[in-house]
Amino acid sequence: MHRRLLRFAVAASIGVAAIATFMQRTPRAAAQPPPQGTPASPGRAVYDAHCVECHGREGKGDGPAARTLVPQPRDFTIGRYKIRSTETGSLPTDADLVRSVKVGLPGSAMPGWDGILPEHEIVAVVQYIKSLSPRFAAELPEPVAPTTPVPASAESAARGATVYATLQCGKCHGDDGRGTGATATGFTDDWGAPMAAANLTEPWTFRGGPGAADVYMRFRAGISGTPMPSYKGTASDRDMWDLANYVASLRRKPVWEMTADEVRAFYGAQEAESLANPVKRGEYLVNILACPLCHSPADAERRTMPGMRLAGGLRMQLSPFGVYPTGNLTSDKETGLGNWTDEEIKRAITKGILRDGTRMLPFPMDWASFSTLPASDIDAIVAYLRTVPPVRNAVPRLTRTALPQYLWGKFQMLFLGADIPSFFFGGNAGSAGGQR
Ligand code: HEC
Ligand code: HEC
Ligand code: HEC
Repeated sequence: MHRRLLRFAVAASIGVAAIATFMQRTPRAAAQPPPQGTPASPGRAVYDAHCVECHGREGKGDGPAARTLVPQPRDFTIGRYKIRSTETGSLPTDADLVRSVKVGLPGSAMPGWDGILPEHEIVAVVQYIKSLSPRFAAELPEPVAPTTPVPASAESAARGATVYATLQCGKCHGDDGRGTGATATGFTDDWGAPMAAANLTEPWTFRGGPGAADVYMRFRAGISGTPMPSYKGTASDRDMWDLANYVASLRRKPVWEMTADEVRAFYGAQEAESLANPVKRGEYLVNILACPLCHSPADAERRTMPGMRLAGGLRMQLSPFGVYPTGNLTSDKETGLGNWTDEEIKRAITKGILRDGTRMLPFPMDWASFSTLPASDIDAIVAYLRTVPPVRNAVPRLTRTALPQYLWGKFQMLFLGADIPSFFFGGNAGSAGGQR
């Protein structure tokens, strides 16, 4: 890795932390009392002690820790669950929920509680979260009928490779299970958060477990709330088990099983791959440099408004310098970057010059440190921004800070040692609307 890039990444992460802290300095609602009328129960006590921070006081998936999590914690009031042994659209069984709470959902922030909470508390908390959705009182889970597994073997996996091609799993997961050649990318879950199709060579990230039987159930039952569909009735049972054995056979060696030489070769290959694929590299850079944090409108809790990632319209107040609305970085031709040339975009990111020639201050957008990125990375950022689907959202421009106002701000900071009040406004300042 370039030393320069490394140093930059460190600086950038400090920057992100600083931005996040400054964003948090908005007045917050006082802690809410527990919902009225919920009778005290053993499950409720476990929930309040261990689950509220993420899943929220009323189980809406909106606890204080939820703001920064991708994927977001489950909203229990809807009764929609990813990991089920039941037909698509149906509720999970108690055993499914107990399993998720015990093992956790790998690849997400959901921890496993086995060995931390005693069995009876896990069973009780599952009953409690069921009581948060009216669905459980009105419907019964519809279990997938059991079938006979085909034992794992090279022959079964080879047959499964054909099923993989026939059912077109590669459309989302790539020909090799790790995304190569995938035509569908950039998914959104039902709750509006960006998500990716699982990397099928890394089964330790599977939410529902790595075994062939787990994999079978995921494509047989689907993963509710995500684009991963149910394949009920699309192939014979034997074909489906062959497919599960094939997916299980794709497992690559994880880093913790590699020798030092293998680790070096693995990351070397990864770096070469990212250089050969600027869009992917650009997406990575845009995320770690926190472009979406400023360039997406958010609600008062700083959750990005659904479908508005990178569409601009977030406003930040830095008194007395002014109110800064962020621009629309999607590929929309009229209101986004669709009609900007590559050079114009690069000039904005590295020199702080807008399309009409106006110069930005070196804050709030840190173009001065972006300018130290290698040229290939700036190209990659532009390549990725070109692929961001257009969202129409015309954002009114900043009224430029007048010189006396600017000098007064500097004077207050440098000579009076004053902190400048800073906060962001919830809602979208652009034409697509949204709460203010
Ligand atoms: C650190 C944050 C965090 C804590 C603490 C936490 N969860 Fe979760 N939980 C999550 C996230 C994130 C998800 C969503 C994962 C996903 O969608 O892939 C989730 C999902 C779930 C699911 C849904 C499984 C499914 O099939 O959709 C259940 C059930 C659940 N949590 C129960 C609990 C219980 C019970 C507790 C307390 C004992 C708890 N969680 C504590 C973060 C947390
Ligand atoms: C329309 C796109 C799409 C298609 C087609 C698709 N998947 Fe998926 N798949 C996804 C997404 C998105 C996820 C990630 C779900 C998540 O993170 O919660 C996923 C997750 C998975 C997982 C991980 C399960 C887990 O426990 O987390 C497996 C295994 C899987 N898919 C197998 C398949 C197989 C096999 C096929 C073909 C029969 C297939 N998928 C077809 C989009 C797709
Ligand atoms: C701390 C918040 C912040 C971050 C982080 C940030 N920007 Fe900005 N950006 C702004 C603001 C505010 C403006 C508008 C400034 C103005 O009008 O003076 C802007 C303007 C721009 C513009 C000019 C387009 C327009 O219409 O405003 C581009 C292009 C841009 N940013 C790209 C990026 C990219 C790419 C990243 C990540 C590498 C990024 N920004 C990160 C706040 C931010």
